[in-house]
Amino acid sequence: MSDFLPEARALLGEANVLTVDLAAYATDWRGKFTGVPLAVLRPADTAQVAATVKLCAIHGVAIVPQGGNTGMCGGATPDGSGQQVVLSLSRLNRVRNIDPLNNTMTVEAGCVLQTLQELATEHDRLFPLSLGAEGSCQIGGNIATNAGGVQVLRYGNTRDLVLGLEVVLADGQVLNLLRALRKDNTGYDLKHLFIGSEGTLGIVTAAVLKLFPAPHASAVAFAAFQTPQQALQLLGLMRGALGDRFTAFELMSDASLGLVRQYFPATPALFAETHPWHVLMQATDPGADDGAQVALDTSFQAALEQALETGVIDDVVVATSVAQAEELWAVRENISEAQQHDGHNIKHDIAVPVSSVAAFIEEVQPLLHAAYTGVRPVVYGHLGDGNLHFNVSRPPGWSTPDWQGESDRVNAIVLDVVARLQGSFSAEHGLGQLKKHEMALYKTPLEIEVMRRVKQALDPQGLMNPGKLLPV
Ligand code: FAD
Ligand code: MLT
Ligand code: ZN
Repeated sequence: MSDFLPEARALLGEANVLTVDLAAYATDWRGKFTGVPLAVLRPADTAQVAATVKLCAIHGVAIVPQGGNTGMCGGATPDGSGQQVVLSLSRLNRVRNIDPLNNTMTVEAGCVLQTLQELATEHDRLFPLSLGAEGSCQIGGNIATNAGGVQVLRYGNTRDLVLGLEVVLADGQVLNLLRALRKDNTGYDLKHLFIGSEGTLGIVTAAVLKLFPAPHASAVAFAAFQTPQQALQLLGLMRGALGDRFTAFELMSDASLGLVRQYFPATPALFAETHPWHVLMQATDPGADDGAQVALDTSFQAALEQALETGVIDDVVVATSVAQAEELWAVRENISEAQQHDGHNIKHDIAVPVSSVAAFIEEVQPLLHAAYTGVRPVVYGHLGDGNLHFNVSRPPGWSTPDWQGESDRVNAIVLDVVARLQGSFSAEHGLGQLKKHEMALYKTPLEIEVMRRVKQALDPQGLMNPGKLLPV
């Protein structure tokens, strides 16, 4: 071990083996987990990642891959031992190829998501992965977490957007699966093992991503109503009217909007009265002529009018400019940060079948209120995918440590209802260190055992992000 750091410096250069001022790498975005890295290693390319991983394997040093460090579950944070290295992918930020005819781009893991969205736009294409952290999260991190975001309804999760991968395995070999093919039935589709594996099976160094036609026409609206059941009615109505042009359907409780208004005072007041629930909706069309925008607006407005006339919604604001659409989206995207400012909450990222979302909310809220007087569920998320961020903020009078101490009890209340509804305890954020214990409670022993066999086969030394994803 004593030779490890000098050898790493010889490999990567003095400037890319950091041992001081590591705070930004040692704590997660939520400030919930803090570790003590032995060092932060910053390889420049796949060959250097491979050589670094080989060096770690020789010295028995555990590796914590890190992208933009925006993950919600502490997956990119090392433990407190001072023995694990953080392997930052930030310098692998090249675009290797863009092929508009094949509708693909081949990019390195450290490319920031927003940069890739912009690149696609420059080529009159869309890379549809979109989430609040897009200005700093990296595509490697998106792939490692199988990120979801706000357009899954139309385009799927990250898994659905990846055609090929390049991965450095735990022994330092480079597994080249960088195929830009839409059809390829040649044995096990190995890329899917690494997508969503949170750095526990290998390091993603590059990927072939799918591109789609750029949306030239767009319609955005913010609606207000009384019950989660009405949200489902509205979803059915809008999808019926717009079909595949319907791209986003984001639910927000009034408490979520209250936090945004509190911590982002410039947030516009959208409605004269308060309403318990809201959704932000978007529809797009690739047609570039005026006719496509008119046709989209006509279908969108007609569906909203029907929703108003039938009492499905109480009120609606339709964006009349790109700037107003952005303003409406900012309300939704600022919820996470507002929650951060508000202090500790017990966070859930659950999924149930879309048809069961209302039943979930209606069942779980009374249970929480019965258990904790004044408790504040802050509910928002990707209703169109059946995925809610059901965050339970501490009741008045509770200190942060005391409320944190209730995590297991609150989790049990929420997640038992999720399980009864055949749902998932982690829809899009992954498990990291935060939710790995739920595995043992909500997955079968056989499913966990098969995962362990995969882990053992690919990482026999247990050096790839140990202590994450799998229960101990
Ligand atoms: P990191 O946080 O650096 O790492 C995440 C995990 O991936 C860790 O386990 C890490 O070890 C591993 N990892 C990172 N890079 C690699 C690599 N190259 N190879 C192997 N393993 C790697 N998530 C959603 O799904 N949907 C959302 O809507 C959403 N919105 C968000 C909004 C905000 C404001 C914030 C702060 C976060 C949001 N997230 C969301 C969570 C987060 O942005 C995603 O999980 C994102 O995919 C993480 O990317 P990252 O580059 O920051 O990864
Ligand atoms: C979101 O949808 O805003 C994110 O997944 C982040 C969060 O859960 O706060
Ligand atoms: Zn989300």
